[in-house]
Amino acid sequence: MGKTVITYGTFDMFHIGHLKLLQRAKALGERLIVGVSTDEFNKQKGKKVLIPYEQRSEVVANIKGVDFVIPEKSWDQKIEDIKKYDVDVLVMGSDWRGKFDHLNKICEVVYLPRTENISTTELKKSLINFVSVPKEDIIKAFEVIEVLKREFE
Ligand code: CTP
Repeated sequence: MGKTVITYGTFDMFHIGHLKLLQRAKALGERLIVGVSTDEFNKQKGKKVLIPYEQRSEVVANIKGVDFVIPEKSWDQKIEDIKKYDVDVLVMGSDWRGKFDHLNKICEVVYLPRTENISTTELKKSLINFVSVPKEDIIKAFEVIEVLKREFE
C-alpha cells in the first residue's frame, strides 16, 4: 500500500500557495489527509479568520488529491492523528522548519518551501485598497471638520 500523508493549516481565503502545498504533499504518497484549523483553534493561536471553518474545510475537501479533511483543534493532536490514521509522512510549510522534528520518531517529517509572494496575511492587508468611500461622504466629512474648526476658534 502507498504512503499516507498528513498536513495542517488554516487555509483562509484559499490561494495558489495553498493549492501548490497540497499538490506537493499529495505527490509524496497515495493518501492525503488535511487537518484544517477550527475557528476556535485559530482564536487560540491569535489568528483572525475571514472564512468560517465549515467553508474552509469544504473547499479543502474538494481539492483534487485531498482524500479527507479532519478538524485541527489543538497543537498536540498530531501524535494521535499520526497513530490513528497510520500516517507515514507529516508535511509542514517551511515556516515551521524544525518545530516538528520530535515527531520523526513516529513518522517522516517533511518541510516544504512556501510559494513566494502570496499569503493570507498579505491578502487581508490588501483588502483596504478595495474599500471605496463615496465622494459625497468625503465632502460631507470635510464640511463637518470646517464647522467644528470654526466652533473651536
Ligand atoms: N503555504 C505555502 N505557500 C504560501 C502560503 C502558504 O506553501 N505562500 C502553505 C503553508 O506553509 C501551510 C499551508 O500552505 O503549510 C496552509 O497555510 P496557512 O496555515 O493557511 O497559512 P498562510 O496562507 O501562510 O496564511 P498566513 O499568512 O495567515 O500565515
